[in-house]
Amino acid sequence: MKKHVLLLGSLLSFAAVAVSDYEKDKITGLVIDKGFEEVRANCTVCHSAKIITQNRMSYDSWLDSIRWMQETQGLWPLSVNEPIILDYLTKHYSPEDTGRRANLPSHLLPK
Ligand code: HEC
Repeated sequence: MKKHVLLLGSLLSFAAVAVSDYEKDKITGLVIDKGFEEVRANCTVCHSAKIITQNRMSYDSWLDSIRWMQETQGLWPLSVNEPIILDYLTKHYSPEDTGRRANLPSHLLPK
């Protein structure tokens, strides 16, 4: 009996490691997570999403980029979506994120 429990435990942890990378949207290449829809809707209109996925910036630098586009490139006010977009960008495209394994997708976390 004990043996079976151990085996199940190692199978579960193996599964968790195997699926720990975030899924990416096939068209834009953006990570699919909370905020993805807002970013796709607001940030892929004037240029490709590559400009985002190839960048790594801190929260402040993302905010500066957004303000710069708003002041000089005609980016509209992001209003209620702005904090969601900034959270998404900082979570997935920040300099600290590069060497770290992604968090578990929410459907695998304990409820
Ligand atoms: C109204 C048009 C427009 C929209 C919408 C827009 N951008 Fe831009 N963005 C530009 C232009 C123009 C440039 C500079 C030209 C270029 O490099 O292609 C640029 C450049 C950038 C850059 C590279 C410059 C830098 O600061 O390093 C990033 C990153 C970027 N945009 C991210 C975003 C994000 C994130 C969003 C959504 C919040 C967004 N863009 C929405 C027009 C836009």
